[in-house]
Amino acid sequence: MDTKVISTGIPYTSLPESYIRPESERPKLSEVEVCEDVPIIDLCCDDRSSIVQQIGYACRFYGFFQVINHGVSLELVEKMLEVANEFFRLPVEEKLKLYSDDPTKTMRLSTSFNVKKETVHNWRDYLRLHCYPLDQYVPEWPSNPSTFKDTVSSYCKQVRELGFRLQELIAESLGLEKDHIKDVLGEQGQHMAVNYYPPCPQPDLTYGLPRHTDPNALTILLQDLQVSGLQVLKDGKWMAVKPHPNAFVINIGDQLQALSNGRYKSVWHRALVNADKPRMSVASFLCPSDDALISPPVKLTEDGTGAVYRSFTYAEYYKKFWSRNLDQEHCLENFKNEIIP
Ligand code: OGA
Ligand code: NI
Repeated sequence: MDTKVISTGIPYTSLPESYIRPESERPKLSEVEVCEDVPIIDLCCDDRSSIVQQIGYACRFYGFFQVINHGVSLELVEKMLEVANEFFRLPVEEKLKLYSDDPTKTMRLSTSFNVKKETVHNWRDYLRLHCYPLDQYVPEWPSNPSTFKDTVSSYCKQVRELGFRLQELIAESLGLEKDHIKDVLGEQGQHMAVNYYPPCPQPDLTYGLPRHTDPNALTILLQDLQVSGLQVLKDGKWMAVKPHPNAFVINIGDQLQALSNGRYKSVWHRALVNADKPRMSVASFLCPSDDALISPPVKLTEDGTGAVYRSFTYAEYYKKFWSRNLDQEHCLENFKNEIIP
């Protein structure tokens, strides 16, 4: 790569070799269908038991869903997208001051996924931030654009509240105490990936992000309204998730799959790029505290199946996740208990 990032402002006329997937790994766009029935859950509805039931259904059969009337100010959502766009429009030299390919950095601009581990690159630049506790991390965030710190801090606070509400609803949908998930996950960390996918000269040969599951507990994704790109694997088929106005896409991460003893699935998903327009997405990840011991409650193992995964700390899991390439087998496979016949 000539420059380290691809959001240089200069359009590419052909896809550099290092982004081209071997034929068998390409997205096969003609086989992808639009998912017309992605659950949309209205969190404002008064009937809590109905919300819990819808969430349970979505988590079990989809592993992802959308929420509306979610309590995050729509004005703030717009501001978040605006400041994200402004950031990626900055001159490349300015952005490169923040560049790092070291996944342990708590603030960095990077590209692709894990440049040091992967063999083929992905058509994405991203700004990755730690967001909790804010006092600790905001000082290291970009100060250009000048509104960045304020806007993103407010956004993070509101998204965190939404995440906690969802964790309570998810716990209830599993028949657990409302606070069970929050209690197990401890003082949760929060990370953000501001993803920018520039127009790509050959979108059928590469990915913005190849298939992966999220290693954390819960992901709250703000999708670009104009340009679609998110696809999820549902019943063995890739389905495109059309952006819905005023909605967040929520997906279950690996930790909730483990905590629910496999009842809820951390879905495979991927991001496709397109030829004419850049796409932006903002992913917020709620992550267990490093020392949280991830292990399912007795209530979910006593039906005779036992624990599907061995107990582990989140620190152990996270280290394993970043030691791999992104599109390998499900990372949880490494933590499976042996089945004793
Ligand atoms: C992610 C992710 C999807 C998207 O950042 O983990 O899956 O649509 N993003 O950008
Ligand atoms: Ni993801």
